[in-house]
Amino acid sequence: MTAQTAAAAISVEKVSKLFDTPSGRVEALNNVSMEVRPGEVVCLVGPSGCGKSTLLRILAGLTEPSAGTVSLDGHNDDPVRRTMVFQDHGLFPWMTLLDNVAFALEADGAAKNDRRRRASALLEQLGLASFQDRFPDELSGGMRQRAAIARAMLTEPQVLLMDEPFSALDAQSKLVLQEELMRLWEAGSQTVVYVTHDIREAVILGDRVLVMTGRPGTIQLGLDIELARPRDVFDRDHPEVKAKAWTIWNAIEGQVRRNLHIPT
Ligand SMILES: Nc1ncnc2c1ncn2[C@@H]1O[C@H](COP(=O)(O)OP(=O)(O)O)[C@@H](O)[C@H]1O
Ligand SMILES: [Mg+2]
Repeated sequence: MTAQTAAAAISVEKVSKLFDTPSGRVEALNNVSMEVRPGEVVCLVGPSGCGKSTLLRILAGLTEPSAGTVSLDGHNDDPVRRTMVFQDHGLFPWMTLLDNVAFALEADGAAKNDRRRRASALLEQLGLASFQDRFPDELSGGMRQRAAIARAMLTEPQVLLMDEPFSALDAQSKLVLQEELMRLWEAGSQTVVYVTHDIREAVILGDRVLVMTGRPGTIQLGLDIELARPRDVFDRDHPEVKAKAWTIWNAIEGQVRRNLHIPT
């Protein structure tokens, strides 16, 4: 779990992405450039449809950009280990929790016993040991997301890419899971890109927040978050949180209203 491998830097240069659809061409990203330092937590925030998931999928290598380049620098010649966590856990319904988590190590070529031992140790650490023989649909949404994150962390990724991992959860579970996630980040050394549409979540979690607006997706604004770590997710009235949340809201309000056809 404690990833001691060097975190990677990410560099995105002039990335654009077009989708051809039956109803015409969609410009999902236009000329997006960004840098992420090794070990940094960058939150991408913006209204629905602004291209956040597309950008994250490009960082994950799941989608090719139409133009521009993405490079990941792990300071050696080995490919940088990247793992993505999605909004809907992505656990296999036909596998137990233990097998789901152990599956993450299959690509590493680890022996089956070794995989199960490591997965079991991790579930124990997270307090999920007594659920290891359950199937995903026997668990709550919050527990499924915890397991999905555990599965991602087990591979000790250098780059952790998270796409609204808690957006389907209730507000209270979300707070507690944000707290747990930050502890996991602090124990490791991965570089994190965290996508959310929740402004306060972005400010509380990120070292830096990049604000996106859409059609086509561009980065409007980058903000450094001056909150010491370890952070307190419950301190949502901290002046820094309020001030940065307000700045972000001002940057995206127009688009949120336009998306809903509410006159400004
Ligand atoms: N595979 C695809 N095919 C066609 N259009 C897509 C595809 N993926 C995303 N889009 C479009 O690109 C835009 C950005 O989508 P997305 O990256 O999912 O935004 P977000 O994650 O910020 O909500 C949207 O207009 C969406 O409809
Ligand atoms: Mg999305």
